[in-house]
This record gives sequence, C-alpha cells and structure tokens, in this order.
Amino acid sequence: MRKQQKRFTIVALLLIMPVALLWLVYFESHSAGFDADYVGSEVCGGCHTQIHPEWQRSPHANMTRKPSEETVVGDFSDGSWMLPQEARRPEVDDQPAAKMYRRDGRYTMALRHPVSNEYVPFEIEHVIGYQYRQVYVTLEAGGVLRRLPLQWSTRRQEFFPYWNLQEGSTPTLEDLWQQMGSLNSRLEPVLRTLSHNSSDDQPQERCAYHC
Ligand code: HEC
Repeated sequence: MRKQQKRFTIVALLLIMPVALLWLVYFESHSAGFDADYVGSEVCGGCHTQIHPEWQRSPHANMTRKPSEETVVGDFSDGSWMLPQEARRPEVDDQPAAKMYRRDGRYTMALRHPVSNEYVPFEIEHVIGYQYRQVYVTLEAGGVLRRLPLQWSTRRQEFFPYWNLQEGSTPTLEDLWQQMGSLNSRLEPVLRTLSHNSSDDQPQERCAYHC
C-alpha cells in the first residue's frame, strides 16, 4: 500500500513537473513580451537570410514608414476635412474638423476639440499603407503609438473617417476623439472633457448623432 502511494506520488510529480515548467516558460515569455521593444526588421534578416531580401523587394517592406515627401500620399499641403453635412452643428462646425499640414518637414494632423473648439496638433510619427489607404500614427507622451481617426483614401484622393465608414455611423467631433481611445496620459484629460454631459454611470452610446 505504502509502496503504491510512493509510486503514485512520483508519477504525479513527473506529470506535474513538465506542466509547471511549461507554465513558467509561458508566463515568462508573456510578461517579457509586454516590456519588449520594437526590434526592427533588420534583426530578422540576421537569421532569415534568404527571405529577408525577398521581403525587402516586396510591397510589404513599404507598409510602415516615416513620413516624408516620398511616403506620404495624403494631402498635407494645407489640406482639411469637414464633417459630413448632416453631422454639422450650425455655425460651430462650419470650420474643418481636421487640418493637415506640413511645416519644416514635419507632418501634422490637427483635430478640432469639440468643447474648446481649438485645433490640437498631432505630429505624424509613422504612416502605414499607401496603395489603397494610408493610416497616420502619432507618438504620444509616454511612448504610446496612436492611430489617428482620419485616413487617406488613395482611390478617392480624400481623407475619410475609417471606423465610421466601417460601422456605418455618422462621425462627430466627439466620436473622432473617442476613437483614439483613452489608454494614455496626454489624451486622458482631453477625453474626460468629452464626457462632461454624462453625469450618471450609464455607458455612453457610441452613436452620438441621430441614433
Ligand atoms: C536568432 C535567429 C532568428 C531571428 C533573429 C528571427 N528568427 Fe524567425 N525563425 C528562426 C527559426 C530558427 C525559425 C524556425 C524555422 C523552421 O522551423 O523552419 C523561425 C521561424 C520564423 C517564422 C515561421 C516560418 C514558417 O515557415 O513557419 C516566421 C514567420 C519568422 N520566423 C519571422 C521572424 C521575424 C518577423 C523576425 C524578426 C522580428 C524573426 N523571425 C527573427 C530564427 C530566427
């Protein structure tokens, strides 16, 4: 009986140990993953010597780039974007919802704040895509990369609110700001001012216009 128990303990331990080890490795790689930095594609080329030059010759290598005369396809020569007619508040929204401009080689998308009515500039850190549409990414304080709500349609040659188009909703200034999320330090106070009229704990309706 005792002998059997001992054997059972040993077998159980042998079974548990690989699982525990796996869990440790898994857990380790996960937490390490959160702290990881972007290493860049050059690093991959060190090992993947055959596929890397092939990838470099493909359009995929041009997906994420720094903004420059060569890479930016959107109109940043004092371009702007107006809310669709039906979403405009009388008088207030006669001005563009966003202005896109280039100064000293720096590309900026400035979004009008729905409460202060001032344009808040976001410098473009990366552009993603170019063939069909282009996404603009800004670098926030604290190192967070944030996608801006207006993208460029290469086919239509105009800016458009990508997520509103996706869900078939009408964009408003509030909505455009909300789309940038709240997971960061710099935008947090700005986003808080957007929910100034929601005093109760009810979750806010996403559709802010003729729902
Ligand atoms: C230290 C060497 C090394 C580096 C650096 C490295 N890899 Fe790998 N990678 C490997 C090995 C080894 C494999 C497994 C190959 C196999 O089993 O056929 C692999 C497999 C892969 C696969 C799966 C390929 C398949 O056919 O299933 C992908 C995708 C991949 N790596 C992408 C990357 C990317 C992207 C980077 C850079 C961020 C990178 N690797 C950096 C060594 C490396």
